[in-house]
Amino acid sequence: MKKSIILSFTLSGHGFSGAVCIDGDIKFASSLERVTRVKNDLLFPISKADLEVFGWKADPKQYVDFLDYEFDLENDYSKVDIAKVEKFQLLLNYLLEAADITLKDVNCVVYSYRHNEIVRKFFKEKNPKIKFIIPEHHFSHACQAYLPSPFQEAAIMVVDGQGVPMKRTGGDQLSGSLSSGKGSEIKTLVEFPVKYSLGGMYAEFTKKLGFKSNQEGKTMGMAAYGSSKYYDILKKELKFDSLDFNYRKVLQKGFGFHKAMYILPNYGVFLSQFEDRKSGEKFTQTHMDLAYAVQKITEDVMVYLANWLYENTESDNLCIAGGVGLNCIANYQVLIRSKFKNIFIHPNAGDNGLVVGQALYVHNILNKNPRTYIDTHDYLGRDYSEEEIQLTINKFLNNEEIEIIKYDNLDDLYVNMAQYIADGYITSWCQGRSEFGPRALGNRSILADPRRSDMKDKLNSRVKFRESFRPFTPSVLAERSSEFFELDIESPFMLLAPYVKPGMGDIVPAITHADNTARVQTVTADVNERYYNLIKAFDKITGVPILLDTSFNVSDEPIVETPLDAIKCFLKTDIDVLGLDRFILRKKNKF
Ligand SMILES: [Fe+2]
Repeated sequence: MKKSIILSFTLSGHGFSGAVCIDGDIKFASSLERVTRVKNDLLFPISKADLEVFGWKADPKQYVDFLDYEFDLENDYSKVDIAKVEKFQLLLNYLLEAADITLKDVNCVVYSYRHNEIVRKFFKEKNPKIKFIIPEHHFSHACQAYLPSPFQEAAIMVVDGQGVPMKRTGGDQLSGSLSSGKGSEIKTLVEFPVKYSLGGMYAEFTKKLGFKSNQEGKTMGMAAYGSSKYYDILKKELKFDSLDFNYRKVLQKGFGFHKAMYILPNYGVFLSQFEDRKSGEKFTQTHMDLAYAVQKITEDVMVYLANWLYENTESDNLCIAGGVGLNCIANYQVLIRSKFKNIFIHPNAGDNGLVVGQALYVHNILNKNPRTYIDTHDYLGRDYSEEEIQLTINKFLNNEEIEIIKYDNLDDLYVNMAQYIADGYITSWCQGRSEFGPRALGNRSILADPRRSDMKDKLNSRVKFRESFRPFTPSVLAERSSEFFELDIESPFMLLAPYVKPGMGDIVPAITHADNTARVQTVTADVNERYYNLIKAFDKITGVPILLDTSFNVSDEPIVETPLDAIKCFLKTDIDVLGLDRFILRKKNKF
């Protein structure tokens, strides 16, 4: 039978990504940044035309500092021939080669949301039979949240910054939606105009704190050090189930007093009393209190929405997507403060992960195929064969700085790596296919001993150079997780931040944050056998089934993708050891 092959791409203000879906299975997915090696890389600089798409007409220049990518406000890139954009070819070829297909095999391209006509033309020229579909941003998020989840029915929460203006909403952008999913169907219950944007509010506080777009995680990390000073003020303005004059019932397009599920505090006015923190300026308690305030308000709204969904869907299962879904502290609060028993948060919850939702939207909803795909893992990068890895290794055989050892027996490799970690070395680990989402989940990770209280500073001063208020994360054997953390479900994608159990923070201080939480990844042998075995080997040596896991990159660079990227990053940083497939590479001067 002829295969159904869907290519899915999304270009938003947060990056550009692509996926290949074959017969309903997401086979491969990656982001442009991983192949071009430029963080948050976009196909084109942000141009004037794009600013209008984003609705940033007031003062486009204010975004130039905030957004972490290239701007060209003079030229219009909306008409550039995509065939000549080398970056586009790079990601496209990465996906086609990974799946061993050509454009002749492709039935459908699903794409959003800029340069649609150019992309359509490009694919039609290559293969006129390709069907071209442009889905809606927030409905795609709902698909991304629910269709790859393990549930046959679920409540769906989408929370992000903003989508694209839609005709259906009278040119409004949305910032979230609540839906219910059953089988292959999704029913939208409520949509939120951009006025209610949680992601927008979080971005404004993040900007005030001197961080850039896509750095909301820094605000989240800082919140642990804040007091409730500003939260206490702002929460008085946070209203639920109120009448709001400006609320437009999106689908009904009526103005007037309407019942809004929530009204955010007037944070714009509130924030205007504070100076913008400049890059490099010292952090003060005020900054931390502001971070605390936005974090807690976000949590309060998400918990409210979850409770509303629980009442209105009669489901025990909750699915979350949208950029705010990467807020693991809020997700955990939703879990413990709502009645939902199960939660699935898409591992690449933000806009880059939309490619998964878009492809499944076409396969399951438009083409009416039953759901067969479950996102049990996030290792959607391409494979690297043993031969390819050996060829890469061969290039470094004469490098006098390093020693390379090949292990025919992987058990020996696990034991040796685990011993290095237990001895306090900073190690890195590149195995199998790369993670699609922003979290390193044990295939492109820097790994260290969580028991050492000085490990955070050591990692920061030698390799990561991150702000000291940002926590490092634990990977724990799933069956041992509840010994250490207040968590009785799995957290395979590091998107829940439970409390560390009393007394356990002293055992694993390097992964316990200031507010006594930890951004946990639970690891099973089914999902990642090599990583599981490594943690198990560490447990045998130390009695602690946990590794400190942080992404394998240096700041301002994307996570390493190829084995060559891994070796280069290892060599140019102060990492001591690299476990690459069956090889261990050690820096001679460290041993
Ligand atoms: Fe989004």
